[in-house]
Amino acid sequence: MSEVLVVTYSYTGTCRQLAQLLCSQQGWPMAEIGERSRRSGLQGTARCLLDSWLHRRPSIQYDGPPPSQFDAVVLVSPIWAYRLAGPMRSFVAMMRDQLPDVAVVSVMGNSGAPNAVAEIGQLLGRSPMLSTAFTTREVQDGSCAGWLQAFGTAIQKAEDSQAVVRPATWSPQAA
Ligand SMILES: Cc1cc2nc3c(=O)[nH]c(=O)nc-3n(C[C@H](O)[C@H](O)[C@H](O)COP(=O)(O)O)c2cc1C
Repeated sequence: MSEVLVVTYSYTGTCRQLAQLLCSQQGWPMAEIGERSRRSGLQGTARCLLDSWLHRRPSIQYDGPPPSQFDAVVLVSPIWAYRLAGPMRSFVAMMRDQLPDVAVVSVMGNSGAPNAVAEIGQLLGRSPMLSTAFTTREVQDGSCAGWLQAFGTAIQKAEDSQAVVRPATWSPQAA
């Protein structure tokens, strides 16, 4: 069975809640990205916005297991100002050479997830294997649970069934 790690950054707790649910559904371990300087209040919100507008990579700390020990990593992050939250940008940039297959879950008020997925693809130099998005309300009222379960199961199945199919077998020219 393939090993999958869930890595989350959460400012106000919603992504953490979703990551915990995904881990409890699939039996996967979870790791969190922390920040070297704490955000709070209006100043904290302003820093979030500036991080997004200026594409900043704030200082982070990560004490979880090395992503390279896993077959896939699921990144769970909020959207800030229609972009990837700064601390997740820092994590992806810092770990890009250690990250195996990557799946992305965005949590947001209502929009911006495609920009975050595109940015992660650019930072990695390859597209994420799967991505999805939930609203804050869907996480808080629990209505995300069914789709989240299906999303997690799809990742596990994709990783478990990475059979090699050689072109000689499926190519029409080989027939
Ligand atoms: C500074 C800031 C900017 C945000 N910008 C957006 C946005 O552009 N689009 C959106 O749909 N939600 C936006 N949100 C809402 C968050 O993405 C949403 O509340 C998310 O659930 C927060 O996750 P967290 O609780 O794990 O931090 C923003 C929130 C903050 C604090």
